[in-house]
Amino acid sequence: MKPFMFVTDLDNTFVGNDTALIELSQKLNQHRQEYGTKIVYATGRSPILYQELKQEKNLIDPDALVVSVGTEIYLDTSRVPDSTWSEKLSAGWNREVVLSTTADFPELVPQPDSEQRPFKVSFFLQETASTKVLPQLSSRLKARGLDIKLIYSSGIDLDIVPQGSDKGQAMQFLRQKWQFVAERTVVCGDSGNDIALFAVGNERGIIVGNARPELLEWHNQNPANHRYLAKDFCAGGILEGLKYFGLME
Ligand code: GLC
Ligand code: MG
Repeated sequence: MKPFMFVTDLDNTFVGNDTALIELSQKLNQHRQEYGTKIVYATGRSPILYQELKQEKNLIDPDALVVSVGTEIYLDTSRVPDSTWSEKLSAGWNREVVLSTTADFPELVPQPDSEQRPFKVSFFLQETASTKVLPQLSSRLKARGLDIKLIYSSGIDLDIVPQGSDKGQAMQFLRQKWQFVAERTVVCGDSGNDIALFAVGNERGIIVGNARPELLEWHNQNPANHRYLAKDFCAGGILEGLKYFGLME
């Protein structure tokens, strides 16, 4: 067995199937100790909400933590975000301009303060309004000279982040840092903000059995042999996929 880089979303992917989570965590931890496998969590949560989940579910410590949909990377157990990454995101980003533009859209309901981050502005947006609001908002922000990206997940969460940032780009930054080839890297997810993980390159992909329609739709439109659609839900689907790719027994 050789090391691989394991990258997973948390809510409804790694977490959500308690029995399978225990089995998967034990196997990953053992693989890390024996072969040097790296474990990365990539979540939309802020560091604050991540800590809550970590305690609630007793999550094992990752080797890197990607939070706030890829806009912050914490290596090992560091409390400060990686500065190379933060510096890369500053160009073309201006929080104040984002906020003054979004203020014109009454459909956008701000998420709690904890989820508003230096490089992430987040709202709740109803699915029915989203088809109208998203294109308008995108062109208004671009017209104001911002190089941003809109990420819409689960029919409710809207994140506005710098163009150079999402879970996929953060994952590739780590992959290059630790020198894992795409064939020895596996990414797992269930919803819209995970599409970036699957779309960025040729990393092995596991879509859990309980995936949201937005991800399944994207997967059907962009089929690939290096992506596995699991039958089981959450960590159960991940165990299934790791076996399928021959990364773990
Ligand atoms: C998490 C975050 C939220 C974000 C969502 C989708 O729920 O707390 O701010 O909008 O993920 O990325
Ligand atoms: Mg999720």
